[in-house]
Amino acid sequence: MSPAPPSSSSNAGRAEIPSLLAPGIEHDPYPLYRSLRESFPLVRDELLGAWLLSRYSDVRAALGDVRLGSAPTGPGPGHRRLLEPVLRAATERTAHVLARRMSGRREVDLVAEFSAWLPAAAAVAALGLPWEDAARVREWCRTGSVRPGGVHPDLVGLLRPHVARRRARPGADLLSALCGARTGGQALSDDTVTALAGTLLTGGGEATALALASFLANLLGHPAQLDLVRARPGLIPGAWAESLRRDPPTPVVLRRATAPIALGGTTLPTGSVVACLIGSAGRDPFRFADPDRYDIFRADPAHLAFGAGRHFCPAATLAGLAAECGLRALLDAMPGLRLAPGFRPAPRGLMARAPRLLLVRTR
Ligand code: HEM
Repeated sequence: MSPAPPSSSSNAGRAEIPSLLAPGIEHDPYPLYRSLRESFPLVRDELLGAWLLSRYSDVRAALGDVRLGSAPTGPGPGHRRLLEPVLRAATERTAHVLARRMSGRREVDLVAEFSAWLPAAAAVAALGLPWEDAARVREWCRTGSVRPGGVHPDLVGLLRPHVARRRARPGADLLSALCGARTGGQALSDDTVTALAGTLLTGGGEATALALASFLANLLGHPAQLDLVRARPGLIPGAWAESLRRDPPTPVVLRRATAPIALGGTTLPTGSVVACLIGSAGRDPFRFADPDRYDIFRADPAHLAFGAGRHFCPAATLAGLAAECGLRALLDAMPGLRLAPGFRPAPRGLMARAPRLLLVRTR
Protein backbone atom coordinates (compact mmCIF):
# COMPACT_ATOMS: atom_id res chain seq x y z
CA MET A 1 0.00 0.00 0.00
CA SER A 2 1.52 3.36 -1.01
CA PRO A 3 1.75 6.17 1.54
CA ALA A 4 -0.53 9.18 0.93
CA PRO A 5 1.07 11.93 -1.19
CA PRO A 6 1.85 15.24 0.48
CA SER A 7 -0.98 17.73 0.12
CA SER A 8 -1.27 19.96 -2.97
CA SER A 9 -0.22 23.57 -2.91
CA SER A 10 0.34 26.41 -5.35
CA ASN A 11 3.63 28.26 -5.87
CA ALA A 12 2.65 31.30 -3.80
CA GLY A 13 5.72 32.39 -1.84
CA ARG A 14 8.10 29.77 -3.29
CA ALA A 15 11.63 30.80 -4.16
CA GLU A 16 12.62 28.48 -7.05
CA ILE A 17 10.01 28.45 -9.75
CA PRO A 18 10.56 25.45 -12.05
CA SER A 19 9.87 25.63 -15.76
CA LEU A 20 9.40 23.01 -18.46
CA LEU A 21 11.30 25.35 -20.76
CA ALA A 22 14.46 25.45 -18.61
CA PRO A 23 17.62 24.40 -20.49
CA GLY A 24 18.19 20.64 -20.76
CA ILE A 25 14.67 19.60 -19.77
CA GLU A 26 13.98 18.11 -23.20
CA HIS A 27 16.83 15.63 -22.64
CA ASP A 28 15.77 14.52 -19.16
CA PRO A 29 12.57 15.96 -17.70
CA TYR A 30 12.35 13.33 -14.94
CA PRO A 31 14.23 15.13 -12.13
CA LEU A 32 11.96 18.15 -12.76
CA TYR A 33 8.85 15.94 -12.79
CA ARG A 34 9.94 14.43 -9.46
CA SER A 35 10.48 17.80 -7.85
CA LEU A 36 7.13 19.04 -9.19
CA ARG A 37 5.27 16.01 -7.81
CA GLU A 38 7.00 16.28 -4.45
CA SER A 39 7.03 20.04 -3.89
CA PHE A 40 4.99 21.88 -6.54
CA PRO A 41 1.97 19.74 -7.42
CA LEU A 42 0.25 22.78 -8.94
CA VAL A 43 2.56 25.54 -10.02
CA ARG A 44 2.48 28.41 -12.49
CA ASP A 45 5.16 28.06 -15.19
CA GLU A 46 5.59 31.68 -16.29
CA LEU A 47 7.83 30.85 -19.26
CA LEU A 48 5.35 28.32 -20.64
CA GLY A 49 2.36 30.45 -19.66
CA ALA A 50 0.59 27.48 -18.09
CA TRP A 51 -0.16 25.82 -14.76
CA LEU A 52 1.72 22.52 -14.34
CA LEU A 53 -0.06 19.46 -12.92
CA SER A 54 2.24 16.52 -12.25
CA ARG A 55 0.69 13.93 -9.90
CA TYR A 56 -1.11 10.94 -11.42
CA SER A 57 -4.36 11.52 -9.54
CA ASP A 58 -4.47 15.26 -10.43
CA VAL A 59 -3.56 14.68 -14.10
CA ARG A 60 -6.20 11.98 -14.43
CA ALA A 61 -8.87 14.18 -12.84
CA ALA A 62 -7.92 17.19 -14.99
CA LEU A 63 -7.97 15.21 -18.26
CA GLY A 64 -11.51 14.09 -17.46
CA ASP A 65 -12.75 17.50 -16.24
CA VAL A 66 -15.32 19.05 -18.60
CA ARG A 67 -14.30 22.55 -17.47
CA LEU A 68 -10.89 22.01 -19.04
CA GLY A 69 -11.54 22.08 -22.78
CA SER A 70 -9.05 20.70 -25.28
CA ALA A 71 -8.21 22.45 -28.53
CA PRO A 72 -10.52 21.24 -31.30
CA THR A 73 -8.63 18.50 -33.13
CA GLY A 74 -10.95 17.81 -36.04
CA PRO A 75 -13.23 14.85 -36.49
CA GLY A 76 -12.55 11.68 -34.55
CA PRO A 77 -11.88 8.60 -36.60
CA GLY A 78 -15.47 7.42 -36.51
CA HIS A 79 -16.44 4.41 -38.57
CA ARG A 80 -13.82 2.52 -36.59
CA ARG A 81 -15.40 -0.82 -37.45
CA LEU A 82 -14.85 0.03 -41.10
CA LEU A 83 -11.29 1.26 -40.52
CA GLU A 84 -9.83 -1.42 -38.30
CA PRO A 85 -9.77 -4.57 -40.50
CA VAL A 86 -8.49 -2.69 -43.56
CA LEU A 87 -5.91 -0.80 -41.51
CA ARG A 88 -4.77 -4.02 -39.81
CA ALA A 89 -4.20 -5.76 -43.15
CA ALA A 90 -2.37 -2.72 -44.56
CA THR A 91 -0.23 -2.35 -41.40
CA GLU A 92 0.73 -6.05 -41.51
CA ARG A 93 1.68 -5.84 -45.18
CA THR A 94 3.58 -2.58 -44.84
CA ALA A 95 5.44 -3.75 -41.71
CA HIS A 96 6.58 -6.91 -43.49
CA VAL A 97 7.81 -4.98 -46.54
CA LEU A 98 9.75 -2.50 -44.36
CA ALA A 99 11.18 -5.27 -42.15
CA ARG A 100 12.27 -7.46 -45.07
CA ARG A 101 13.94 -4.47 -46.75
CA MET A 102 16.20 -4.10 -43.71
CA SER A 103 16.95 -7.75 -43.08
CA GLY A 104 19.67 -7.92 -45.76
CA ARG A 105 21.80 -5.34 -43.93
CA ARG A 106 23.84 -6.01 -40.82
CA GLU A 107 23.23 -2.76 -38.91
CA VAL A 108 20.33 -0.32 -39.39
CA ASP A 109 18.59 2.58 -37.65
CA LEU A 110 15.11 1.29 -36.80
CA VAL A 111 13.76 4.84 -36.46
CA ALA A 112 14.81 6.03 -39.94
CA GLU A 113 14.01 2.73 -41.65
CA PHE A 114 10.96 1.52 -39.78
CA SER A 115 9.16 3.26 -36.91
CA ALA A 116 9.08 6.71 -38.55
CA TRP A 117 7.51 5.22 -41.68
CA LEU A 118 5.11 2.53 -40.55
CA PRO A 119 2.09 4.63 -39.41
CA ALA A 120 2.01 6.98 -42.43
CA ALA A 121 2.87 4.24 -44.94
CA ALA A 122 0.21 1.90 -43.49
CA ALA A 123 -2.47 4.63 -43.66
CA VAL A 124 -1.48 5.46 -47.24
CA ALA A 125 -1.61 1.74 -48.17
CA ALA A 126 -4.99 1.25 -46.46
CA LEU A 127 -6.48 4.18 -48.34
CA GLY A 128 -5.04 2.85 -51.61
CA LEU A 129 -2.94 5.98 -52.28
CA PRO A 130 0.40 5.85 -54.10
CA TRP A 131 3.48 5.13 -51.97
CA GLU A 132 5.07 8.54 -52.77
CA ASP A 133 2.24 10.17 -50.81
CA ALA A 134 3.57 8.54 -47.63
CA ALA A 135 6.70 10.72 -47.87
CA ARG A 136 4.62 13.90 -48.37
CA VAL A 137 2.26 13.08 -45.48
CA ARG A 138 5.16 12.22 -43.17
CA GLU A 139 6.96 15.42 -43.97
CA TRP A 140 3.82 17.52 -43.25
CA CYS A 141 3.32 15.80 -39.90
CA ARG A 142 7.00 15.95 -38.95
CA THR A 143 7.36 19.63 -39.72
CA GLY A 144 4.00 20.44 -38.13
CA SER A 145 2.62 22.11 -41.28
CA VAL A 146 -0.49 19.93 -40.89
CA ARG A 147 -1.83 20.02 -37.32
CA PRO A 148 -2.71 16.53 -35.97
CA GLY A 149 -6.27 15.87 -37.06
CA GLY A 150 -6.44 19.21 -38.88
CA VAL A 151 -7.65 19.17 -42.46
CA HIS A 152 -5.02 21.29 -44.19
CA PRO A 153 -5.58 22.63 -47.74
CA ASP A 154 -2.55 20.64 -49.01
CA LEU A 155 -4.10 17.49 -47.62
CA VAL A 156 -7.49 18.27 -49.14
CA GLY A 157 -5.69 18.94 -52.44
CA LEU A 158 -3.97 15.57 -52.21
CA LEU A 159 -7.15 13.66 -51.37
CA ARG A 160 -9.78 15.31 -53.59
CA PRO A 161 -8.71 13.79 -56.95
CA HIS A 162 -8.48 10.33 -55.33
CA VAL A 163 -11.99 10.71 -53.84
CA ALA A 164 -13.37 11.72 -57.27
CA ARG A 165 -11.71 8.70 -58.90
CA ARG A 166 -13.05 6.27 -56.25
CA ARG A 167 -16.56 7.69 -56.68
CA ALA A 168 -16.33 6.97 -60.42
CA ARG A 169 -14.59 3.60 -60.12
CA PRO A 170 -14.52 2.03 -56.62
CA GLY A 171 -11.68 -0.33 -55.70
CA ALA A 172 -11.03 -2.60 -52.70
CA ASP A 173 -9.34 0.10 -50.60
CA LEU A 174 -10.50 2.08 -47.58
CA LEU A 175 -11.07 5.28 -49.53
CA SER A 176 -13.53 3.42 -51.78
CA ALA A 177 -15.18 1.91 -48.68
CA LEU A 178 -15.59 5.41 -47.17
CA CYS A 179 -17.04 6.69 -50.47
CA GLY A 180 -19.53 3.79 -50.43
CA ALA A 181 -20.38 4.04 -46.70
CA ARG A 182 -23.86 5.25 -45.68
CA THR A 183 -25.06 6.83 -42.44
CA GLY A 184 -28.84 7.06 -41.93
CA GLY A 185 -29.35 5.91 -45.54
CA GLN A 186 -27.17 8.75 -46.92
CA ALA A 187 -23.75 8.48 -48.57
CA LEU A 188 -20.96 10.40 -46.84
CA SER A 189 -20.22 13.78 -48.47
CA ASP A 190 -16.85 14.45 -50.12
CA ASP A 191 -15.97 16.73 -47.19
CA THR A 192 -16.68 13.96 -44.66
CA VAL A 193 -14.73 11.35 -46.64
CA THR A 194 -11.81 13.79 -47.00
CA ALA A 195 -11.92 14.67 -43.29
CA LEU A 196 -11.99 11.00 -42.21
CA ALA A 197 -9.17 10.04 -44.58
CA GLY A 198 -7.22 13.15 -43.50
CA THR A 199 -7.61 12.22 -39.83
CA LEU A 200 -6.32 8.74 -40.55
CA LEU A 201 -3.32 10.12 -42.46
CA THR A 202 -2.26 12.84 -40.03
CA GLY A 203 -4.33 12.37 -36.84
CA GLY A 204 -1.77 10.60 -34.74
CA GLY A 205 0.82 9.28 -37.16
CA GLU A 206 3.63 11.24 -35.55
CA ALA A 207 2.57 10.23 -32.01
CA THR A 208 2.28 6.61 -33.13
CA ALA A 209 5.70 6.74 -34.79
CA LEU A 210 7.31 8.12 -31.61
CA ALA A 211 5.47 5.62 -29.39
CA LEU A 212 6.63 2.77 -31.64
CA ALA A 213 10.26 3.94 -31.39
CA SER A 214 10.05 3.99 -27.57
CA PHE A 215 8.32 0.60 -27.52
CA LEU A 216 11.07 -1.01 -29.63
CA ALA A 217 13.76 0.73 -27.55
CA ASN A 218 12.21 -0.54 -24.32
CA LEU A 219 12.00 -4.14 -25.53
CA LEU A 220 15.42 -4.17 -27.17
CA GLY A 221 16.84 -2.64 -23.98
CA HIS A 222 15.34 -5.52 -21.98
CA PRO A 223 16.32 -8.63 -24.00
CA ALA A 224 14.92 -11.11 -21.46
CA GLN A 225 11.47 -9.49 -21.73
CA LEU A 226 11.82 -9.38 -25.53
CA ASP A 227 12.51 -13.14 -25.53
CA LEU A 228 9.30 -13.71 -23.56
CA VAL A 229 7.29 -11.57 -25.98
CA ARG A 230 8.86 -13.39 -28.94
CA ALA A 231 7.79 -16.73 -27.45
CA ARG A 232 4.33 -15.48 -26.42
CA PRO A 233 2.98 -12.75 -28.75
CA GLY A 234 -0.07 -12.53 -26.49
CA LEU A 235 2.18 -10.44 -24.21
CA ILE A 236 2.49 -7.67 -26.83
CA PRO A 237 -0.50 -5.53 -25.66
CA GLY A 238 0.81 -5.45 -22.07
CA ALA A 239 4.34 -4.66 -23.26
CA TRP A 240 2.95 -1.78 -25.43
CA ALA A 241 0.85 -0.38 -22.56
CA GLU A 242 3.86 -0.49 -20.25
CA SER A 243 5.95 1.42 -22.77
CA LEU A 244 3.20 4.06 -23.11
CA ARG A 245 3.16 4.46 -19.32
CA ARG A 246 6.92 4.75 -18.97
CA ASP A 247 7.62 6.73 -22.15
CA PRO A 248 4.49 8.40 -23.55
CA PRO A 249 5.10 10.08 -26.93
CA THR A 250 3.06 13.20 -26.04
CA PRO A 251 4.02 13.76 -22.39
CA VAL A 252 2.34 17.17 -22.06
CA VAL A 253 -1.35 17.78 -22.86
CA LEU A 254 -2.42 21.44 -22.73
CA ARG A 255 -5.96 22.33 -21.66
CA ARG A 256 -7.71 25.68 -21.19
CA ALA A 257 -10.20 26.36 -18.37
CA THR A 258 -13.65 27.23 -19.78
CA ALA A 259 -14.86 28.16 -16.26
CA PRO A 260 -13.13 28.93 -12.94
CA ILE A 261 -11.72 25.67 -11.61
CA ALA A 262 -10.40 24.73 -8.17
CA LEU A 263 -7.27 22.61 -8.38
CA GLY A 264 -4.99 21.77 -5.47
CA GLY A 265 -6.36 24.48 -3.21
CA THR A 266 -6.06 27.25 -5.83
CA THR A 267 -8.90 28.55 -7.99
CA LEU A 268 -7.71 29.16 -11.53
CA PRO A 269 -9.67 31.75 -13.52
CA THR A 270 -11.42 31.06 -16.83
CA GLY A 271 -8.89 31.01 -19.66
CA SER A 272 -6.04 29.56 -17.55
CA VAL A 273 -3.91 27.08 -19.44
CA VAL A 274 -3.19 23.85 -17.58
CA ALA A 275 -0.37 21.53 -18.67
CA CYS A 276 -1.31 17.96 -17.75
CA LEU A 277 2.06 16.24 -17.38
CA ILE A 278 1.25 12.72 -18.54
CA GLY A 279 4.97 11.89 -18.55
CA SER A 280 5.19 12.73 -14.86
CA ALA A 281 1.92 10.96 -13.99
CA GLY A 282 3.27 7.72 -15.48
CA ARG A 283 6.28 7.85 -13.14
CA ASP A 284 4.34 8.79 -10.00
CA PRO A 285 5.54 6.42 -7.25
CA PHE A 286 2.25 6.92 -5.38
CA ARG A 287 0.53 5.23 -8.32
CA PHE A 288 3.14 2.87 -9.81
CA ALA A 289 5.57 0.71 -7.85
CA ASP A 290 9.19 1.24 -8.97
CA PRO A 291 7.95 3.58 -11.72
CA ASP A 292 11.18 3.96 -13.72
CA ARG A 293 11.39 0.21 -14.35
CA TYR A 294 10.08 -1.24 -17.65
CA ASP A 295 8.08 -4.32 -16.63
CA ILE A 296 5.68 -5.98 -19.06
CA PHE A 297 4.13 -7.93 -16.16
CA ARG A 298 3.26 -4.82 -14.16
CA ALA A 299 0.36 -5.54 -11.85
CA ASP A 300 -0.71 -1.88 -11.64
CA PRO A 301 -1.33 -0.72 -15.24
CA ALA A 302 -3.69 2.16 -16.31
CA HIS A 303 -1.47 4.67 -18.06
CA LEU A 304 -2.74 8.09 -19.20
CA ALA A 305 -0.87 8.24 -22.54
CA PHE A 306 -4.17 8.32 -24.46
CA GLY A 307 -5.76 10.82 -22.06
CA ALA A 308 -8.81 10.07 -19.93
CA GLY A 309 -12.54 10.79 -19.94
CA ARG A 310 -14.33 12.75 -22.65
CA HIS A 311 -11.29 13.39 -24.85
CA PHE A 312 -9.78 9.89 -24.53
CA CYS A 313 -7.97 9.19 -27.81
CA PRO A 314 -10.52 7.64 -30.17
CA ALA A 315 -7.72 5.89 -32.07
CA ALA A 316 -6.04 4.09 -29.16
CA THR A 317 -6.81 0.68 -30.68
CA LEU A 318 -5.69 1.76 -34.15
CA ALA A 319 -2.38 3.01 -32.72
CA GLY A 320 -1.87 -0.40 -31.08
CA LEU A 321 -1.93 -2.02 -34.55
CA ALA A 322 1.39 -0.39 -35.41
CA ALA A 323 2.95 -1.84 -32.25
CA GLU A 324 1.57 -5.32 -32.71
CA CYS A 325 2.04 -5.72 -36.46
CA GLY A 326 5.34 -3.81 -36.39
CA LEU A 327 6.97 -5.94 -33.69
CA ARG A 328 5.74 -9.22 -35.19
CA ALA A 329 7.09 -8.30 -38.63
CA LEU A 330 10.49 -7.30 -37.22
CA LEU A 331 10.86 -10.50 -35.20
CA ASP A 332 9.74 -12.66 -38.16
CA ALA A 333 12.19 -11.04 -40.58
CA MET A 334 15.07 -10.73 -38.08
CA PRO A 335 14.97 -13.39 -35.35
CA GLY A 336 18.36 -12.23 -34.02
CA LEU A 337 17.36 -8.53 -33.75
CA ARG A 338 19.22 -6.71 -30.95
CA LEU A 339 20.67 -3.32 -30.08
CA ALA A 340 23.97 -2.57 -31.84
CA PRO A 341 26.92 -3.25 -29.50
CA GLY A 342 27.58 -0.24 -27.28
CA PHE A 343 24.48 1.65 -28.42
CA ARG A 344 22.05 3.00 -25.80
CA PRO A 345 18.80 4.65 -26.96
CA ALA A 346 18.49 8.26 -25.76
CA PRO A 347 14.92 9.60 -25.75
CA ARG A 348 14.57 13.35 -26.19
CA GLY A 349 11.90 15.99 -26.63
CA LEU A 350 9.47 17.65 -24.26
CA MET A 351 6.13 17.85 -26.08
CA ALA A 352 6.98 14.97 -28.44
CA ARG A 353 9.37 12.48 -26.89
CA ALA A 354 11.17 9.35 -28.16
CA PRO A 355 14.62 8.14 -29.20
CA ARG A 356 15.46 9.64 -32.62
CA LEU A 357 18.07 6.95 -33.35
CA LEU A 358 17.78 3.20 -32.72
CA LEU A 359 20.82 1.33 -34.03
CA VAL A 360 20.31 -2.42 -34.21
CA ARG A 361 22.07 -5.52 -35.48
CA THR A 362 19.70 -7.48 -37.67
CA ARG A 363 21.52 -10.82 -37.18
C1 HEM B 1 0.35 6.17 -29.75
C2 HEM B 1 -0.34 7.04 -30.48
C3 HEM B 1 -1.26 8.09 -29.91
C4 HEM B 1 -1.22 8.74 -28.69
C5 HEM B 1 -0.21 8.54 -27.56
C6 HEM B 1 -2.36 9.64 -28.65
C7 HEM B 1 -2.65 10.45 -27.56
C8 HEM B 1 -3.80 11.21 -27.45
C9 HEM B 1 -4.17 11.97 -26.27
C10 HEM B 1 -3.35 12.12 -24.99
C11 HEM B 1 -5.37 12.56 -26.52
C12 HEM B 1 -6.20 13.41 -25.54
C13 HEM B 1 -5.89 14.88 -25.67
C14 HEM B 1 -6.65 15.69 -24.61
O1 HEM B 1 -7.05 15.14 -23.59
O2 HEM B 1 -6.82 16.90 -24.84
C15 HEM B 1 -5.75 12.19 -27.88
C16 HEM B 1 -6.90 12.61 -28.51
C17 HEM B 1 -7.14 12.39 -29.85
N1 HEM B 1 -6.45 11.55 -30.71
FE1 HEM B 1 -4.82 10.46 -30.24
N2 HEM B 1 -3.05 9.54 -29.82
C18 HEM B 1 -2.43 8.61 -30.62
C19 HEM B 1 -2.81 8.19 -31.88
C20 HEM B 1 -3.87 8.74 -32.59
C21 HEM B 1 -4.21 8.39 -33.96
C22 HEM B 1 -3.50 7.31 -34.79
C23 HEM B 1 -5.28 9.19 -34.31
C24 HEM B 1 -6.06 9.25 -35.60
C25 HEM B 1 -6.08 8.30 -36.52
C26 HEM B 1 -5.60 10.01 -33.14
C27 HEM B 1 -6.65 10.92 -33.10
C28 HEM B 1 -7.03 11.60 -31.96
C29 HEM B 1 -8.17 12.54 -31.92
C30 HEM B 1 -9.10 12.91 -33.08
C31 HEM B 1 -8.25 13.02 -30.58
C32 HEM B 1 -9.24 14.05 -30.01
C33 HEM B 1 -10.33 13.37 -29.22
C34 HEM B 1 -11.25 14.40 -28.54
O3 HEM B 1 -10.84 15.57 -28.35
O4 HEM B 1 -12.36 14.02 -28.21
N3 HEM B 1 -4.73 9.71 -32.13
N4 HEM B 1 -4.78 11.36 -28.41
